[in-house]
Amino acid sequence: MQLHECIQEAVASIRSVSNLEPKIGVILGTGLGSLADRIEVQARVEYKDIPHFPVSTVDTHAGELVLGQLAGKPVVALSGRFHFYEGYTLQQVTFPIRVAKALGIHSLVVSNAAGGLNPQFSAGDLMVITDHINFMGDNPLIGPNDDTLGPRFPDMSEPYSRAYIAMAEQAALEEGIPLRRGVYLACPGPCLETRAEYRFMRTIGADAVGMSTVPEVIVAVHAGLKVLGFSAITDECLPDALQAVDIAKIIATANAVEPKLSRIVIKCIQRFPE
Ligand code: HPA
Repeated sequence: MQLHECIQEAVASIRSVSNLEPKIGVILGTGLGSLADRIEVQARVEYKDIPHFPVSTVDTHAGELVLGQLAGKPVVALSGRFHFYEGYTLQQVTFPIRVAKALGIHSLVVSNAAGGLNPQFSAGDLMVITDHINFMGDNPLIGPNDDTLGPRFPDMSEPYSRAYIAMAEQAALEEGIPLRRGVYLACPGPCLETRAEYRFMRTIGADAVGMSTVPEVIVAVHAGLKVLGFSAITDECLPDALQAVDIAKIIATANAVEPKLSRIVIKCIQRFPE
C-alpha cells in the first residue's frame, strides 16, 4: 500500500472519532508529556486503534493521539513517540507527522530530552532549537518521493522557523524563564555516546545531543510545516568531566523542567497564526 493511502486510512479512522480540525501538532517527548493535561480534550485515540500507526514500546510513553484545544487553538498532541533505536524505520517513526499534516496542521511543536554539549549549559536548562545535525545515518525521505506529500529535495535552510524562535525567546523573557538557543544533533542510540564522540559533536557545532526529533522535523519540513523545537537539557556531556549516565536522573530532570516548557509553549501557541 502506498504511503498516501496509509495516511488516508489513518485520517479516516481518526475522523470517525472526532471532527476537530487541528491547526497545530505537538509532540510530547520524554518527561514532557504532561502538557497533554493542559489540553481541553475533545477526543483521545490510542495509537493501537489507528491503522498503520506504530505502537510505542517504551512504557513511559502513553501512546495516544489527543485532539482538543490548547491555548485557544485546535491541536493534535502526540503523546508518546517512536524512536529509531526501538527498531522502527524512520518512515514509521515519522508516520504520525504525516497524519497530523493530513488532519490539517500548519505548524509543529517538538520537544525532547537532550544531553548538553555546550559547556555553558547545565542540567535543567531549556534550549530552543535553532538548527540540527542529522547524525542518524538514515533519512525518512529515502525511497521514491510522493510529490503530493512534498518535494524530492526539500530545502533545509530554515528547518526551525525564525519567527517561531523569536516568539519563543520573547515568551521566555516575559515568563522570566532563561532560554538557551542552539543546534541539536540526533544520534540513533540506544547507547549513550563516548567521550570521544561528545568531543567530536561539540567540535562540529552541536550544543545538545539526543535520539529523536530530527527525523520528525525532516518530514515536517518536507510536508511544508513550520516547526518550533525545544530541548530540555537533562545532563552534561562534557568529554573531559564525564560522569556515568543516570537514566532515572535524566527523566527526573526532564520532568522538573516540564512546567517551564509548558508555559513557553502555551504562550507561543497563543501567538501562532490561526
Ligand atoms: N545522549 C546523551 N545525553 C542525553 C541524551 C543522549 O542522547 N538524551 C538525553 N540526555
